[in-house]
Amino acid sequence: MATPGKGLEGVVAAETALSDIDGKEGRLSYVGYDIHDLVNATFEEVCYLLHHLELPNAEQLDETRNQIANEREPNEFVMQLLPNLAQTSAPMSMLRTAVSASSAKDPDGWDTSEEANYRKAIRLIAVFPTLVAYYDRMRKDLDLVHPDASLSQAANFLYMLKGDKADEEEARVFDVCLTLHADHTMNASTFAARVCAATLSDIHSAMTAAIAALKGPLHGGANEQVMRMIKEIKEPSKARDYTITMLRNKEKVMGFGHRVYKTEDPRATHLRRMAKELADKTGDGNNYEISQEIERAVMDEKGIYPNVDFYAASVYGYLQIPTDLFTPVFACSRVSGWTAHVREQYADNRLIRPDHEYVGPEPRSWVPLSER
Ligand code: CMC
Repeated sequence: MATPGKGLEGVVAAETALSDIDGKEGRLSYVGYDIHDLVNATFEEVCYLLHHLELPNAEQLDETRNQIANEREPNEFVMQLLPNLAQTSAPMSMLRTAVSASSAKDPDGWDTSEEANYRKAIRLIAVFPTLVAYYDRMRKDLDLVHPDASLSQAANFLYMLKGDKADEEEARVFDVCLTLHADHTMNASTFAARVCAATLSDIHSAMTAAIAALKGPLHGGANEQVMRMIKEIKEPSKARDYTITMLRNKEKVMGFGHRVYKTEDPRATHLRRMAKELADKTGDGNNYEISQEIERAVMDEKGIYPNVDFYAASVYGYLQIPTDLFTPVFACSRVSGWTAHVREQYADNRLIRPDHEYVGPEPRSWVPLSER
């Protein structure tokens, strides 16, 4: 049992109007709208909602779509760095470096006005998927597929990554994935972004901090680990024993458990459903069945529910997204929430500087080096 308060459990670190979780009831809402309703929206509508605190009308949505679609190409400075990063860096390290570097040529430069920060937020939301897709094609020595401004953020990512336009159903599934990952209150990466922004550092620095925090396997990195586990298990018949052995060895099963949810994560409900739909559509139920077996075993043995990362892995697998891009794909969505949180932090800022409890030695006398 963790020490009360360890990991800031139960501590209210900020006020936010962006999202809310009811961990007992398994509810998640963005700006008052239930996630079970928002799965009917597009990711662009969700971006607008998070940044304007209202759903857009048709005209506002059109404008937002165009703003995002017109800012998808990385600037020339980042384009010079990318080939090198594609040969040398892991995907999340590339993203962290490329996003940090993209500040150098941002058209708004060092302008930190509210308007400039909104434009920077749009550019960041727009460019993340291009960085990920270009990186993947560069490392595979494939020609780049440039963004298509007529496509949604979801359809365009799949197009840039794979070179063929996704069918409507797959593009829609990915769109829902982007919506489901867009925001999640005071998760570690969002908190990291807000801590950085609260020093009045710039929005690109806050995004760099957020990406760095998302990378870890206890946070966004879990979805990749889930797929690695599924691949290692190989067959549904082996999944139960594999999982129970892990749990009895006190290992954590990635994609399960949550600091706030004590029941089913509502995002997992949709991701499970979509994984099943894609399994039926592709006629390849293996990953889905292995996942179901793992879920049953973790529930029977520990009573722990899957989180967003568990079935996201199967869905991304069915969409043929390379496993090591799962966490960057998470970032392509969460950048919408991160940028909104940073703007919210700037609007009513106070330095975030928690206190500590000292557990080191009592005051003692300094001993010169020659006497140690
Ligand atoms: N597998 C096995 N046991 C678990 C798991 C798991 N995935 N998650 C929690 N537990 C157990 C844990 O061993 C502990 O048991 P005990 O009290 O007997 O020692 C108890 O549940 C509480 O766990 P905790 O690690 O103290 O809980 P936390 O609130 O500090 O951590 C968590 C939350 C998400 C980091 C944790 O559940 C975990 O490590 N899960 C696996 C990684 C993962 O899936 N991360 C994605 C999180 S959701 C999306 C995101 O943020 O990216």
